[in-house]
Amino acid sequence: MTATGTARASLNPAAAAVDAAAAAIRARIVGEVPRVAIVLGSGLGFITERIEDPVRLRYPEIPGFPQPTVPGHGGELVIGRLAGRRVVAQSGRFHMYEGHDAATSVLAVRAFGALGIGTLLLTNAAGGVRRTLQPGALMLIADHINLTGRNPLIGEVLPGEERFPDMSDPYDRELREIAREVARERRVALAEGVYVGLLGPSYETPAEVRMLERLGADAVGMSTVMEVIAARARGMRCLGISTVTNLACGIGAQPLSHAEVMDVANAVRGELAALVEGIVARLP
Ligand code: HPA
Repeated sequence: MTATGTARASLNPAAAAVDAAAAAIRARIVGEVPRVAIVLGSGLGFITERIEDPVRLRYPEIPGFPQPTVPGHGGELVIGRLAGRRVVAQSGRFHMYEGHDAATSVLAVRAFGALGIGTLLLTNAAGGVRRTLQPGALMLIADHINLTGRNPLIGEVLPGEERFPDMSDPYDRELREIAREVARERRVALAEGVYVGLLGPSYETPAEVRMLERLGADAVGMSTVMEVIAARARGMRCLGISTVTNLACGIGAQPLSHAEVMDVANAVRGELAALVEGIVARLP
């Protein structure tokens, strides 16, 4: 980097925050930096229990990382081996509905990118919009619609990021093929569809769900889209899997609750773990 570039980066608070978080994480990595990061959604933090030789970094140890406020979201990075590969898993996201701005919501992803991690595997809990997606279904994210009205790239361009990133392959084609193969081999039913990201935290109204259906959404949630945008701006390859925890409002007869979301996420643990581990083992 040129002297001017360095000076500019250190003046940019967003870039300085990424550097500080990345340095704190790097300091706790023994040996090589993992090539894969896994972001765990609501109720999916159990995957960290399957990581061998774990090094746990609680969020207060990482500058700029807020403490998660949502039940079901931990608050730690776990570095270790999963399915024989070195990984870093993020248990506890920073959602914009918690009051975080878009930049904070992607701080972990940017830090992973700054560390040289090239692949991001994202999981989330989502409501099923497509009628055939019943609670407990797993959906490979083929594409997304960002309806949050926010974008984490607004503002000065951070070092290593593009001003106008291409979004034609947000969820990597090759990685999706691997995911489908693993699902076939392990006999895990895996749907595929479009995830729409909203701000939340209120669930959608029935009229909003009808609108989303017409827009081409298969599942709806309150995360993931910011992270994928930030990752693509750094050239990281992304793969996303939604656990459909409920029928979106108006499709099912019952009111929605976070407890229901957590219960269903819990019930499909085994299948999701098999899928994630199979994919991690095969990642290029
Ligand atoms: N809507 C939005 N986000 C969600 C849902 C939902 O129905 N279920 C889990 N996360």
